[in-house]
Amino acid sequence: MHWGKHNRLDRVMPGLPQGTGSVMLAIDHGYFMGAVGGLEVPKETIVPLLPYADSLMITRGILQYSIPKRTNIPIVLRMSSGNSILNEDMSCEKLCVDIEDAIRMNASMVAFSIYIGSEWEHQTIVEFSKLINKAKRYGIPILAVTAVGKNMNRDLKYLTLASRISVELGADVIKTYYCEGFDQLTKSVPVPVIIAGGKKIPEADALQLAHNAIKDGARGVDMGRNIFKAENPKSMIQAVRSVVVDGVNPADAFTQYQKAL
Ligand code: 5RP
Repeated sequence: MHWGKHNRLDRVMPGLPQGTGSVMLAIDHGYFMGAVGGLEVPKETIVPLLPYADSLMITRGILQYSIPKRTNIPIVLRMSSGNSILNEDMSCEKLCVDIEDAIRMNASMVAFSIYIGSEWEHQTIVEFSKLINKAKRYGIPILAVTAVGKNMNRDLKYLTLASRISVELGADVIKTYYCEGFDQLTKSVPVPVIIAGGKKIPEADALQLAHNAIKDGARGVDMGRNIFKAENPKSMIQAVRSVVVDGVNPADAFTQYQKAL
């Protein structure tokens, strides 16, 4: 791997060279959900969480207007969009950000959602491939988000298919969902895998989810709603970090979380 790309990847996921997990904070939901609960005033929620995240997955608008410019946190920039929650089928995404703008925004990684098995599968694969060609030119690593389209099962067969296709196309990191048999997915995907948290669940369950994913070969989490919608987001990201980076037992991490409430 080219020095620049390697260096960017290690900055986004500092656990990689150390063999530990990494915490990417996902706050890009507004690109189709608007002012999603917990992120109504982005700066207020996000800035206190920055010291506990290894990297930040974000849209260029919120990066521009809500994140202090003097931060050192590595940026994972969302590059695809094309829908809102008002549309029943949200799989029709395209590449919507120029690679030059990603570079101007000092992105350390670029992210794109591909929708395998959806009506727009072909479009998202071709657009994703265009992004890969552009990002490779500048040594910027690519995060594939295996988005789950309408009527798709989040099971091992489907998620492994979507993850493996993403690698075959040239992704450097895969973001997918945890599922039963997840260790088989991570074995069949020869690049780092990270998991999304998904819809808000009780904090203890989210910590258990993070623990299970790491145990089954994930190299980190790209978690959003289970952090910023938690009763205490700042304590929750610290609890997630203790599980993912320090290998703390999820029950102990939850006890610590409760003490901080
Ligand atoms: C939206 C995304 C989100 O970043 C992703 O879903 C992670 O956030 P959460 O933990 O809330 O699921 O890619 O398309």
